[in-house]
Amino acid sequence: MSKPLPEGLVYLPGFLSRAQQENLIDLVRTGIKSAPFYQPRMPRTGQPTSVIMSNFGQLGWVSQQSGYRYDPVHPVTGKPWPPIPQELLNLWKEVAGWPASPQACLINWYRVGSRLGLHVDADEDAKSAPVVSVSLGDKALYRIGGINRNDPTRSFKLSSGDVMILSGGARHCYHGVDRIYPRTSTIVPKGGRINLTMRVVR
Ligand code: SIN
Ligand code: FE2
Repeated sequence: MSKPLPEGLVYLPGFLSRAQQENLIDLVRTGIKSAPFYQPRMPRTGQPTSVIMSNFGQLGWVSQQSGYRYDPVHPVTGKPWPPIPQELLNLWKEVAGWPASPQACLINWYRVGSRLGLHVDADEDAKSAPVVSVSLGDKALYRIGGINRNDPTRSFKLSSGDVMILSGGARHCYHGVDRIYPRTSTIVPKGGRINLTMRVVR
């Protein structure tokens, strides 16, 4: 018997059409002209992460040796992040079930060999607002557990166009990306997987 999903985890496989996915990739490519992907570093150790990042929104989530933070400007260019595209705000309205709009949209780019360790999204003051996450490009092995790091986990193979919502109890659960499956999609021109994560911060 399979374990029950964490309460509040909503998985919408194949939610976005191919045309919608391509449009989102175009919007990301436009965004990164003014806010290029930068190399995040782990707090304290300063180790580079395998995932590279950028953001849309009034606030961007930034990971540097000095720590994690939400910042209105890009850590390298010092310029504000581009606004969250209307298409993403519309998607949020459609699926989030939350009155406020997201202030941040993290853009993660997983290239061959990239992974994201188990973590809880915990840098937001708006602790109960859902997190809406969009998968684009190569498939990924996504894992979500419970509120303790050692709780049992469930895995999902996420595909391009899938939408995952962490609301309710799931909002506080450990989750991560164990691996991506290279060349399983043609949506990202340079390959790999782009994940867009919208969050209410304050
Ligand atoms: C994240 O939890 O920050 C990203 C999840 C994903 O890439 O699907
Ligand atoms: Fe996360």
